[in-house]
Amino acid sequence: MAAGVEVVAFVDDFRYGHLVEDLLVLTREHAIELYPSAKWHLGFGQIAGRRRVLQSLRDAGCSMGSFISPSALVAPTAKIFEPAQIFANTVISTGASVGANVIINFGAVISHDVVIGENSYVSPGANIAGNVTIGRGVWVGVGATIKNGSSGIALTIGDNVVIGAGACVVNNVEGNAVVIGVPAKARNNSNV
Ligand SMILES: CC(C)(COP(=O)(O)OP(=O)(O)OC[C@H]1O[C@@H](n2cnc3c(N)ncnc32)[C@H](O)[C@@H]1OP(=O)(O)O)[C@@H](O)C(=O)NCCC(=O)NCCS
Repeated sequence: MAAGVEVVAFVDDFRYGHLVEDLLVLTREHAIELYPSAKWHLGFGQIAGRRRVLQSLRDAGCSMGSFISPSALVAPTAKIFEPAQIFANTVISTGASVGANVIINFGAVISHDVVIGENSYVSPGANIAGNVTIGRGVWVGVGATIKNGSSGIALTIGDNVVIGAGACVVNNVEGNAVVIGVPAKARNNSNV
C-alpha cells in the first residue's frame, strides 16, 4: 500500500512468472483476466514505448491510474493531467502544467509557469526554471538544467527533443534535436 494505492501485481511483456516484492510478475493478458477493474500505471521511461503501451491498454479497455507521491510538493495552481506519475521529492510550482502520460522522476524541480507536453519524461534531479515550455515526447536527462525564459517569452524546447544527462540548456531547442553539455549544444552542431 502506497499513497492509498494497493499494488496487486507487476506486469512485464518480456519477463514474467517470477516474484518482485512478493508479487507475481504477470503477462498483460493474465493481469487483465485476474484484475479486470484494476488501474494500470506505466512505470518505465522509454517514451515511444510508453505512448504505444498506453494506447494499447486503452484499446483493451484498461483504465489508467495516476500516482502523485505523498512527498511531492504540488502547488494548488499547478495542473497535472492524467495519467500522471509524479515521484517522491519532486516540486511542481505555481502555474505549471504537466501533460498526460508524463513522468516527473525523483527530486526533479518544475518551477513556475513551466508547461510540459504529453508523453515527456523528466529524469531524476532535473531542474527546470520558470517560464519554460517543453514539447511532447521530450526526454530531460538526469540532473539536466533548463534556464528560465521570461514572462511572455518562454524558453522553448520542441517536440521529441532529448536533453542529455547533466546538460544546461540556455537557449531554445528545435524539435527532434539531441542536446548535450554546458551550455547545451546539438550533437550535430546544427541546433541551439
Ligand atoms: C545524450 C544521450 C541520449 C546520448 O546517448 P548515445 O546516443 O547513446 O550517446 P553515446 O553514449 O554513444 O555517446 C556519444 C558521445 O557523446 C558523449 N555524451 C553522451 N552523453 C553525454 C552527455 N549527457 N553529456 C556530454 N557528453 C555526452 C559521449 O561521451 C560520446 O562522446 P565521444 O564520441 O567523444 O566518445 C545519453 O548519453 C544521455 O545523456 N542520456 C540521458 C540518460 C538519463 O538521463 N538517464 C536517466 C534514466 S532515469
